[in-house]
Amino acid sequence: MKIKKNEELLLIENLGGSVPDSKFAKSAGLKCEDGMLFCTPLLPEGSRTLSFDLTFRKRTSSWKISRKRISVSFQSGYSCKIVFEGKLFRIGGGKQSISVDRIPSGVVFDLDGVLVDSAICHYRAWKSIADELKIKFDEKKNDLLRGVSRRESLMVMIEGQIELTEEQIQHYMHKKNELYKKLVDESGEALLLPGVKPFLSSLKLAGLKLSVASSSKNTPSLLKQTGLDKFYFDAIADGNDIKNSKPHPEVFLLAAKRMGVKPSRCIAVEDAPAGIEAGRSAGMMTFGIGYADLGKCDFHMESIEKTDPVEIFGLMSKLNSKDITF
Ligand code: BG6
Ligand code: MG
Repeated sequence: MKIKKNEELLLIENLGGSVPDSKFAKSAGLKCEDGMLFCTPLLPEGSRTLSFDLTFRKRTSSWKISRKRISVSFQSGYSCKIVFEGKLFRIGGGKQSISVDRIPSGVVFDLDGVLVDSAICHYRAWKSIADELKIKFDEKKNDLLRGVSRRESLMVMIEGQIELTEEQIQHYMHKKNELYKKLVDESGEALLLPGVKPFLSSLKLAGLKLSVASSSKNTPSLLKQTGLDKFYFDAIADGNDIKNSKPHPEVFLLAAKRMGVKPSRCIAVEDAPAGIEAGRSAGMMTFGIGYADLGKCDFHMESIEKTDPVEIFGLMSKLNSKDITF
């Protein structure tokens, strides 16, 4: 059985058989989208549990939702995909029961190269500085700079070629940033990578907490330019907040703390080797984006656009497998 979007009404009408109350469905957080049933309950103030039978296409499931747990028993013959607070379950075949602890889970996104197309602007700006300094610098070397701070990037770039005084370091860092900001401005709306907003919306619909963890001090302006500063994220942690940039886990740990989710309940989405290392050190599951050699990431996709949110829900269920009993 696939549940289609336009079947939401039918589903709501069938809630509890005799309780065709859409407010009730709202508080149970039941929604249908893309053939999946999402359950992210918001219990009304004062109520401790919500119990109901859901009859759908003549099959009944019995639900019990509390602030800490969701338990559902399905009659045999039920077959559907259900997402409970970001975790995917495939129901099919005989009688089945699911019981899930409700512990907040989240996704922590790197910014440059994952949500916005700014990695190329960093590269071009550094390339122009390298040309001025008459030192070698190419895309391969640039891979080492992804995820690391502005100062460390300059150090890696000049390493073994020239030495700079502190005054020169400050001068070239400033110059690079001015060039970078100009390139980012020129990108306009194209800065936002395709598919990002619908992807984030799907994760939010599934009840996941979302945050940004970037080494960049330009994070606030990039989020504003792309319209990602509103609605999408529960927390932001960036280069303005941290002492150690990736591969140190500081920025990921701070993002998780700010969104109120344990690091072990988070997936880190990254395009840089240093970022994957940082996510792993933070104790998160890691999701690599792009073509770079990302080492030991748990999952790898070409881009956000090519990623089905179901992949995230599937990873979430693995992440929280300890909480699931059948
Ligand atoms: C990271 C980028 O997100 O931010 C790096 O991947 C960059 O390339 C770093 O050096 C710091 O960025 P900014 O904007 O503070 O110079
Ligand atoms: Mg990046």
